[in-house]
Amino acid sequence: MNRRALVTAGTGGIGLETAVGLAAAGYAVTVVGRDAARGGSAVERINAVGTAAEARFVTVDLASLSEVRDLADRVTADGALSVLVNNVGAMFDDRRVTPDGIEASFALNHLSPYLLTELLLPALRAGAPSRVVNVTSGSVRIPTGRIDTAEQQGGYYGLHAYGRAKLANLAYTLDLAQRLKGDGISVFAADPGGAVTTMTTGTMSSSRVVAPWLRPFWPLVHKAFQRTTSGTPAQAARSSVVSARRPTSARSSPSTAD
Ligand SMILES: NC(=O)c1ccc[n+]([C@@H]2O[C@H](COP(=O)([O-])OP(=O)(O)OC[C@H]3O[C@@H](n4cnc5c(N)ncnc54)[C@H](OP(=O)(O)O)[C@@H]3O)[C@@H](O)[C@H]2O)c1
Repeated sequence: MNRRALVTAGTGGIGLETAVGLAAAGYAVTVVGRDAARGGSAVERINAVGTAAEARFVTVDLASLSEVRDLADRVTADGALSVLVNNVGAMFDDRRVTPDGIEASFALNHLSPYLLTELLLPALRAGAPSRVVNVTSGSVRIPTGRIDTAEQQGGYYGLHAYGRAKLANLAYTLDLAQRLKGDGISVFAADPGGAVTTMTTGTMSSSRVVAPWLRPFWPLVHKAFQRTTSGTPAQAARSSVVSARRPTSARSSPSTAD
């Protein structure tokens, strides 16, 4: 029987390359995104290398928690799941809120993958040995001090909000790995490094993502960003693909693939 993999934000950037890597390894892959045309092209690309069942695309806005719940219901109804790659992530230059009224960085980088994972645990247990791969980022080093509110105080800066949400998700990943010890579900945090994608060429080219005191130095800061995100999406997807496939002796130990 085909082993099934779900890749969120799998129609472009690092997520699409992850889906391609998993399909080439024999997984029946479902990718999630908002745009049907991008979804269709992604499925074509995945099927060109896939050796298992046809790839599928599901239209979901992962910023909406009710759509995340619907996605989990659909995936669960299809039966056992072997791999969940929570690849969705986004950075915004201006503060915005989701349809649920939640600050969007926190919703997309943490709440959405958290909720999806919790709702899919029965399907992942049924697919054991199975894996959860949460895509993290070097930006987890940015926030300092104690985080005890969903939103940062004292002004919105995209990079900081992003790093904060990714850090919350990394803490969740470590906790989940402990919680699932012995359940047959391995949990990984995968750091893609940096790649040229919609995120890095879009929002990350606006000086508004950094704090006002840094903006006078924007040309230098931007150059540094470009240098650290100059890889290809395929190279960046490697950490997720390896985490999803790697045989592990220490099941459910938190690890970071690089
Ligand atoms: N690129 C980097 O250098 C870098 C570095 C460190 C970590 N990361 C992490 O790696 C992951 C992938 O990043 P990326 O750079 O590949 O991002 P990206 O290029 O912006 O991702 C594009 C994908 O995300 C989907 N997407 C965006 N918003 C969505 C939403 N609300 N609901 C559903 N799908 C959505 C897009 O599909 P639609 O537009 O059709 O919805 C598309 O499939 C993220 O978690 C990111 O934080 C990236």
